[in-house]
Amino acid sequence: MTNTETAKSDLFSPVMLGPIQLANRIVMAPLTRSRAGDHDVPSELAIEYYVQRATAGLIIAEATQVSPQGKGYVFTPGIYSDDQVQAWKKITSAVHAVGGKIFLQLWHVGRISHPSLQPDGALPVAPSAIKPEGQAYTTAGFVPLLTPRALATSEMPEIVQQYRTGAENALAAGFDGVEIHAANGYLLDQFLRDKTNQRNDAYGGSIENRARLLMEVTAAVVGVWGGERVGIRLSPVSTFGDIADSNPEALFTHVVKALNHFNLVYLHVIEGETGGARNLPGAFDPQILHRLFNGLYMANNGYDLNLAADARDEQRADLVAFGRPFISNPDLVERLRVKAPLAEPDPATMYGGGAAGYIDYPTMKTA
Ligand code: PHB
Repeated sequence: MTNTETAKSDLFSPVMLGPIQLANRIVMAPLTRSRAGDHDVPSELAIEYYVQRATAGLIIAEATQVSPQGKGYVFTPGIYSDDQVQAWKKITSAVHAVGGKIFLQLWHVGRISHPSLQPDGALPVAPSAIKPEGQAYTTAGFVPLLTPRALATSEMPEIVQQYRTGAENALAAGFDGVEIHAANGYLLDQFLRDKTNQRNDAYGGSIENRARLLMEVTAAVVGVWGGERVGIRLSPVSTFGDIADSNPEALFTHVVKALNHFNLVYLHVIEGETGGARNLPGAFDPQILHRLFNGLYMANNGYDLNLAADARDEQRADLVAFGRPFISNPDLVERLRVKAPLAEPDPATMYGGGAAGYIDYPTMKTA
C-alpha cells in the first residue's frame, strides 16, 4: 500500500464541540488500561500515553471511578482525592501543551465489583440484589461476581454527590469537559434497565423512575460544568455486564428526550454489542436516538475508515470514536488520513503492566 492517497472526508476537518474547537471529528474512546498506582492515582506513564494520542480531535480518558465504592477492577484510576487530581492535572496540561483536548469519563461500576475492591470489604451496591453473571478482576485474579447490596432510597443523594464531587475534581484537574458513563452495565445503566432494576421506590418501576438517578446525576454534573461541556455515553442494546431491558427502544427514547432538557454537548452511543456485533437481530436502530438528540451524535463500535467516512457522508454521525485502534496506533488520525495500514494491539498488554504495550507502539514515522 502506498501513502500517496489521502481519504476524502470531513472526518479530518475541524468541528466545534460546544465552545471547544476540535481539530478533527475523530475521538479516542475511553479505554481501561489498568495501570493506575496506589490509591487509584493515575500512572506517570499516562502522561506520555495520552500525549502520544493527542492528535485525536478529542480524547475521552479512561473510565475513572468517582468514589472508592465506584471501583470494580484493579488498577483503574479515580477522581475523588487530591493526589488523583494532581496526577490528572499533569496529564491534562501535557495534552493541552501539544494542542489536544481531553474529557474525563465519570464512572461508578455498581454491582460489577467485588468486596476485595470495596472500602472495608463491603458488598458492591446496585439498584437491586441481583447477581450478575461474570467475573471480577481483582488482585487475586478473576473471581466470580457476587450478589450486590440494594441501595436504600436514603442513599441516593450520596450517589449523586459522588458524581458531583467527581465533576468538581475533573474541573480542578484541568479537563475540557466530562462524559457521564451511563453504558455497559455499570451503575447508571443498572438503574435504567428492568433486568437489573426491580425496585419499587421512586427509582424503579416505570421508565421515568428508572431514569431518575441518571437525570439527578446529569443535573449535578451539568451544575458544575454547564451542558456544553458534558457528554453522555449509552449502550442501548448491549448486554455487556449481563444487562438487558424488556423494551430498550421505549426506554432510551425516553432517556434521550429527557436528556435534551440539559443541552448536553454530545451523545456517545455504542452501536450494537459492546466490542462485538454492530447489527443485532431485532435491535432498534440507534439513528432513532440520533434524530431525537439536540446535540452532537458520537458513534462508536467497530468503526474503520470506510464505515466512519460513510457515516459522515450519510450524516449518521457528527463524531466517530475509535477504541482499540488507538491502543496500537498513537497517530491513528494521520494513518486514517493517508490510508496507511494499522497496527494490531497485543491483547497480553491491554490491561495492567507498565510501558510495554502502552507507550511503545510506534508512529508511522518511527516504525
Ligand atoms: C473495562 O474495564 O473492561 C471496561 C470499562 C468500562 C467500559 C467497558 C469495559 O465501559
